[in-house]
Amino acid sequence: MEAGMLALLGKTIKLMESLGFLWILTSGFELNLWDELKEEKTLDDLITLHPAWDRLLLDHWLEQAGSLGLLIKDNQSYKLSKLGKAVQSYRYEGLEALYKELVKHWSPVFADLPQLITGDADKKSFASEMEEELIAKASLASEPFVWPFLVKKFNDSKWRRILDIGCGEGLYLQKLMEFSPSLQGIGIEINPEVTLRARTNCAAYNDRLKIICADALDFQLDIGTFDVSLLNNNIYYFNPDQRITLLYNIKKVLNPGGQIGILTALRGTNDQLELFSTQMPRHLMSFFLACHRGFRGLPTEAEIRELLTLTGYIDLEVIPLPFGMSHFFFASSV
Ligand SMILES: C[S@@+](CC[C@H](N)C(=O)[O-])C[C@H]1O[C@@H](n2cnc3c(N)ncnc32)[C@H](O)[C@@H]1O
Repeated sequence: MEAGMLALLGKTIKLMESLGFLWILTSGFELNLWDELKEEKTLDDLITLHPAWDRLLLDHWLEQAGSLGLLIKDNQSYKLSKLGKAVQSYRYEGLEALYKELVKHWSPVFADLPQLITGDADKKSFASEMEEELIAKASLASEPFVWPFLVKKFNDSKWRRILDIGCGEGLYLQKLMEFSPSLQGIGIEINPEVTLRARTNCAAYNDRLKIICADALDFQLDIGTFDVSLLNNNIYYFNPDQRITLLYNIKKVLNPGGQIGILTALRGTNDQLELFSTQMPRHLMSFFLACHRGFRGLPTEAEIRELLTLTGYIDLEVIPLPFGMSHFFFASSV
């Protein structure tokens, strides 16, 4: 066999494995099977629990989950492997939402890629499920990389008032409020459903934290001044002109020496560490965003540097988070 053909077959097998993994994970979440299989069960046990389910399909699901290393089979019984337990433990930390995005929303968009490229199909709009739920929830998956850096920055800078623009589920506000009992803050979130969840998540701090449902481009709001304004995982929502307006507006509400922190995945950076390369997924995310009306994909490092310089921020610090997954750009207002 030719080397090219062999390489292609190898890639195809990996592709089927990845797709199988995705389909089994998402269906397992929807059917609550990861939870049910925390305790050992046979196919018969599961059918007893769900008499209306299709036995043949469930048998295939168990077999597939076993061959993907998600379940361990002992005689006729299945239970979660270490990997399967991780799937269940971390499901609410962004991964379930991310997998659902890939299956239900990324696949149909990329299926229309030829028409999108030729211009025979209009650019897409995000489905309401994406805007109201999945985008903000999937963003939680970067927390293990972001939080250690953010807390260090907090300790170094001693912020007293924080503004979090496009705060999503309010995770970083919640963690910072918990970490520092004297910190006060405001979160701004455009989507009403996401705002409600952020308010619930941050309810313990509502004496010093307010979550406002508003467009961050509308700075008519009287919100006071801040030591830091975060723009985490959302700069790509704003077109180049809007980014300039937004950064000027943020400057107006920053105290002297106040900081802006822009967290974003980037296009075009090379991974230093090949062990866990994030270049391909970042570029795929950028590609997916660019298929949507009003979106241009992820920014490059040069674009963010230029934006901060143009809008008069100084003392720029660019911090790559582990594996180059995202970069934090911190700069001062004066
Ligand atoms: C990918 S999520 C990131 C959420 C959070 N900052 C995080 O890092 O986990 C982006 C969020 O920005 C919000 N957003 C987008 N455009 C906005 C705007 N113009 N004003 C306020 N929020 C906005 C979206 O609704 C979404 O919840």
